[in-house]
Amino acid sequence: MAALEPGILNSTQQLAASRGVDLDALPEHVAIIMDGNGRWAKSRGLARLLGHREGYKTLRGVLLNASELGIRHLTVYAFSAENWRRPQDEVDGLMKLIERAARDELAVMHRNNVRVRVAGRMDEVPASLRQALLDGIETTRDNTGITFTLAVNYGGRAEIVDAIRRLVESGTPASEITEELVSRNLYNPDLPEPDLMIRTAGEMRWSNFLIWQAAYAELFVTPVAWPDFGLDQLVEAVATYQQRVRKFGGLA
Ligand code: IPE
Ligand code: IPE
Ligand code: MG
Repeated sequence: MAALEPGILNSTQQLAASRGVDLDALPEHVAIIMDGNGRWAKSRGLARLLGHREGYKTLRGVLLNASELGIRHLTVYAFSAENWRRPQDEVDGLMKLIERAARDELAVMHRNNVRVRVAGRMDEVPASLRQALLDGIETTRDNTGITFTLAVNYGGRAEIVDAIRRLVESGTPASEITEELVSRNLYNPDLPEPDLMIRTAGEMRWSNFLIWQAAYAELFVTPVAWPDFGLDQLVEAVATYQQRVRKFGGLA
């Protein structure tokens, strides 16, 4: 779904190129904090869950756009380890929505060569949702297109704790614990670290998303609420990313 052949650009790539995006220097891994569904709904006098439903439609489009653009990995924050603090009806609605989305989108994702992953404590989500996610992973495991990682019941601190637990359980001596080894014990150790982290709806914080992996990610915050996010904003985020000078502590 990226370039059909070298030199032939699809319409998403043509649009991005026309807005100054260098298609040879795309961020390899884009992470998105999909925020603002509740505010989007409230500003229209709608129930919060309708905002989440609209957000699901947005995600469907953004996954396709990211894939067409040629981004290799997309990770999105669907439900945080802290979101259980919300009213029970919203939590239940979100669990059902994510499960339905996982089931309904599987065929089209598979057809589009998407490889599905999850990040988060799967043993704490409802069994039927866990099964839907595992089915997605299993069905698409050999796909070679974009890797799409859904963070569900995900917390960055919890992920680090889980990695440390694994290291302790395997009897790793303290002197052998390195950053590299911690990285290798995260939920998806084969994924590269995110280059670009996008947050919608204006909040200037991480909210515990990929706090280990995004240590050197470039941040892009847009005031646009997630249900209104689309190709224009994705292209703007990538173009902005390409203006940044990444130094990783060194000198440019
Ligand atoms: C993001 O939208 C989706 C989830 C956290 C599940 P919010 O529900 O946080 O929307 P706001 O921040 O209340 O507008
Ligand atoms: C982060 O958004 C979690 C998701 C987008 C799933 P929140 O809305 O939960 O973050 P806070 O509470 O504003 O920090
Ligand atoms: Mg929010």
